[in-house]
Amino acid sequence: MNTDIVLTANELTRHYHVERGSFRKPAVLKALDGATFTLTKGKTLAVVGESGCGKSTLARLVTMIEKPTSGELHITGTDIGHSDATTLHNLHKEVQIVFQDPYGSLNPRQKIGHALEEPLLVNTEKTKEERRAAALDMISLVGLRPEHYDRYPHMFSGGQRQRIAVARALMLNPQIIVLDEPVSALDVSIQAQILNLIATLQQQFNLAYLFISHDLSVVKHIADDVIVMYLGRPVESGSREALFSKPHHPYTRALLSATPVADPFHVKERIMLKGELPSPIAPPSGCTFHPRCPSMTEQCKEKAPPVREIDGCQVACYHPKTY
Ligand SMILES: Nc1ncnc2c1ncn2[C@@H]1O[C@H](COP(=O)(O)OP(=O)(O)O)[C@@H](O)[C@H]1O
Ligand SMILES: [Mg+2]
Repeated sequence: MNTDIVLTANELTRHYHVERGSFRKPAVLKALDGATFTLTKGKTLAVVGESGCGKSTLARLVTMIEKPTSGELHITGTDIGHSDATTLHNLHKEVQIVFQDPYGSLNPRQKIGHALEEPLLVNTEKTKEERRAAALDMISLVGLRPEHYDRYPHMFSGGQRQRIAVARALMLNPQIIVLDEPVSALDVSIQAQILNLIATLQQQFNLAYLFISHDLSVVKHIADDVIVMYLGRPVESGSREALFSKPHHPYTRALLSATPVADPFHVKERIMLKGELPSPIAPPSGCTFHPRCPSMTEQCKEKAPPVREIDGCQVACYHPKTY
């Protein structure tokens, strides 16, 4: 077994029961419907897909904010489905999360220094002085200045607030960080700075990242491996090189064709997706992508395609593009 693996997810599933008014039975919404992957020390696994495909649900399961409906999750070798409260409490420290909007996760009335010290206060025996020293160290590590210790969240720019969110996630020295759209709310120029910071910290602490984005162009520079999700399911996964150079699934190709390229003379195929993401309450039959797929045939409507390996990618499609 690869001892660098820090997290294993096997067929992770999360269904919600949603009310549909007094005359209709509650429906089952399959927010996440079978995600299988591993996270490795020092590596980034990117999860991409349109809004509503289940990315944040996956983030909540991996960070143990919510329990899976079914499937297995092993974190640093421990099966979280069969662990006692103390073990789970300790595992919580190993997995931290950074959200798109740090305003939501930072208390507006709490000085930044205290926000950074809080995880240490709750989880460690460190003295007041030690906590302060650790917070100041972290402030400098994420590119902020000592005087920021005494400031409140509203006194910072969006990019600075995201630095603070990253700093807070690192305070307990976790092995895994889930980044849920960490740069999606930032200006493009600031995005690059935050992505650089994230990459530097990964090297420094040998962190495993689960990096979530709706935007393939964001993950292109930082991912080692990529999972493309559609309606709660991975449709294609593989190494970044394989996925970007030889995308097989029509959905991956459509996402890529919508991604801007730096080279204006580069001729790209243009695949326009028909319609919108269907509701996960009543997903289409067979391959759930079939109503929007340019390669759809009768078979696609009838039965969900099995996952196959093509050129090192895992692809769930009857009509993958081959090279
Ligand atoms: N607590 C919940 N109860 C019911 N439905 C939910 C809940 N959380 C998410 N969903 C639904 O699950 C689907 C996936 O949501 P989400 O994981 O937030 O997607 P993404 O992050 O990719 O935009 C959406 O259809 C969303 O409305
Ligand atoms: Mg989301």
